[in-house]
Amino acid sequence: MRKQIAAANWKMNLTVDKAQSLLDEIISAQIKFNEDRQAIFAVPFPYLQMAQQKINNVDNFFIAAQNCYSKKSGAYTGETSAEMLQSLNIKYVVLGHSERREYFEESNQFLAEKLNITLENNITPIFCCGEPLSIRDAQTQNAFVEKQLQESLFHFSADDVQKIVIAYEPIWAIGTGKTATSEQAQEMHAHLRKVIADNFGKAVGDKISILYGGSVKASNAKEIFSKPDVDGGLVGGASLIASEFVTIINSLK
Ligand code: PGA
Repeated sequence: MRKQIAAANWKMNLTVDKAQSLLDEIISAQIKFNEDRQAIFAVPFPYLQMAQQKINNVDNFFIAAQNCYSKKSGAYTGETSAEMLQSLNIKYVVLGHSERREYFEESNQFLAEKLNITLENNITPIFCCGEPLSIRDAQTQNAFVEKQLQESLFHFSADDVQKIVIAYEPIWAIGTGKTATSEQAQEMHAHLRKVIADNFGKAVGDKISILYGGSVKASNAKEIFSKPDVDGGLVGGASLIASEFVTIINSLK
């Protein structure tokens, strides 16, 4: 079975005390995992080490960074390198979130560079893609999202591309309370899996985990995750509430 993942994206939220309590509360729920399930917490940079220490002894819990820079090291004030993350034993990094694409003008090409350096440092990228409302209204979302993959991922070998986790996040569903229907999610996920299979072979397409993101909450997670090509979710708002996120983790296939 493909890896099933509930990934929390805390974004720029929580002070350190609140972050600690949130993790404590989720850990104390003592969720029973089967081998193929994971919970990942994408926390703000200042909390990486604290979070890493907290989940150290919890099976199937991992910490992610929310971003990293495309360069190895050097005079890039304010940036964080993949090598730094690796030195903290961080296993995942979220790349290409629509908020980074929009507010920080991150292009598909720039994201390709970030993906390169991330994989070079043995960190698994959670690569976000997804269309804005205007594209969905024009019903050209499949081509739009396919292009995001093409320009950021298609230079990789099959061996490398299968290390990547994809998160499909329709922008019109992020933080809006307007979730894609489980059918809309399934349709896009199946399309993306086919795009990967056509370019890298069926075995690779079958192996890659594709998460859905956009207003996932305790009340809709099970229905969305039940779809055959949906391998879990990337969760913003609802991941800041312990009981919500615990239910979301327990909704994984
Ligand atoms: P949301 O955010 O769950 O608050 O819609 C999802 C995301 O941006 O990853």
